[in-house]
Amino acid sequence: MVGVTPASQNKEASAGEQNATGRATILGILAALSGLMFGLDTGVVAGALPFISMDFHASAVLQGWIVSSMMAGAAVGAMFAGRISVSFGRTGAMLGAGILFLIGTLFCAFAPSVVLLVTGRVLLGLAVGVAAFAAPLYISEITVESARGAMISLYQLMVSLGIFLAFISDSFLSEGGHWRWMLGIMAVPAVLFLIVVLILPHSPRWLMMRGDKDRARKVLRLLRSDEEVAEAELADIHARLEKSSDAGFGLFRSNRNFRRSVFLGIVLQIMQQLSGINALLYYAPRVFEAAHFGTNASVWATTLVGLTNMVFTGVAIMFADRWGRRPLLLTSCVVVGLALLGVGGVLAFGGQGMTTAILLCGLILMFVAGFAIGEGPLVWALCSEVQPTRGRDFGIGCSTVTNWTANWVISSLFPLMMLAMGASWTFILFAVLNGVFLLITLGFVPETKGVSLEKIESNLFAGVSLRRLGE
Ligand code: BGC
Repeated sequence: MVGVTPASQNKEASAGEQNATGRATILGILAALSGLMFGLDTGVVAGALPFISMDFHASAVLQGWIVSSMMAGAAVGAMFAGRISVSFGRTGAMLGAGILFLIGTLFCAFAPSVVLLVTGRVLLGLAVGVAAFAAPLYISEITVESARGAMISLYQLMVSLGIFLAFISDSFLSEGGHWRWMLGIMAVPAVLFLIVVLILPHSPRWLMMRGDKDRARKVLRLLRSDEEVAEAELADIHARLEKSSDAGFGLFRSNRNFRRSVFLGIVLQIMQQLSGINALLYYAPRVFEAAHFGTNASVWATTLVGLTNMVFTGVAIMFADRWGRRPLLLTSCVVVGLALLGVGGVLAFGGQGMTTAILLCGLILMFVAGFAIGEGPLVWALCSEVQPTRGRDFGIGCSTVTNWTANWVISSLFPLMMLAMGASWTFILFAVLNGVFLLITLGFVPETKGVSLEKIESNLFAGVSLRRLGE
């Protein structure tokens, strides 16, 4: 009898632990749906653009605006996302984003003119900018420590799943050139997202910031294995909040070492966008048309691009902790650079035959796969890993705004570059920029695989070089 009680208690404890972890995971997955919205709304324009351009007789400049206005909105949304998530909570910010997703979608679907279409895209952008900041923050605050990395990666996977689903839906609707349906169908996931956000509890950390310890305790009791664990986390949140007076911009101004990690995040995001990924993702059907694919074949080839992106993002998530960030990122830069050189070469000398079209499609898929195993997900992971606790929100905020701003500039310039330099030189230029990314990775990117965030932080503040932060 003696041994029976502790064993049954253990069983109960582990069942309770599993339930709590399960609940936290489900909430994390639900919040990650904002990644899906992000992917859907950024991906959908690729298939719709050729038909929109025909209907509105849009010039290259206007096409650039239709695509990139969303990124401009996202940059502004990301700039204010931090403040909104403090004032209204992470769930409040996601709710606001959900409402904007819906309104923006309706604007786009019913737009009688390019101006209103662009307005709708700006509203969607604001939603994406806010949601893409608030959701990962929320996920990191509700999930248990051991599942944090995986849950944040899940968010990335959701973004690529969203892009893929948008491409598929575009492909089905491309038959009759139904661009209004392509854009309007996004109202369905937007409503689902709104419903989901309404059932999410507030983040315990945000409740503590508001001094509402009782509600924070209630949420944590639901999401943690037992009372003791929940109380310890409450005490930890309290202690960290007390210490955070010299955080964010204050720390940026006063501490040279923190400035280094912020700049590394900014440079990584600029280089990620200079890889040319969104030039391809947003304008893929146009690029395929340049290679003499028919309009519908172009839209289907674009779906293949979305699938490749999603599958290889999954591969990166599986292997980033086994192979390390640097080997994956270096491989990624080489593969992307070579694929783009190939695309440039084929567009210049390949002629118009079937073989050329297949070769080009293969090279484009190689480019996307190369991006998805490194430059895509790992840049986001590194941007958060190199920031010290006290400056994390500020550092991630700066790199996120940079990502959207660079995305905006490049997606508005791309159609003009294609006109001014020709498709082939445009891709060769992107290939060269990937070479620069390779050199920056060699010189400045640390290996953070298996290294605790505390270790990276103490190295950073001790003045260790960026490249060696993980040693
Ligand atoms: C980039 C986005 C891009 C996406 C493609 C992300 O890492 O930041 O700009 O559209 O990857 O999956």
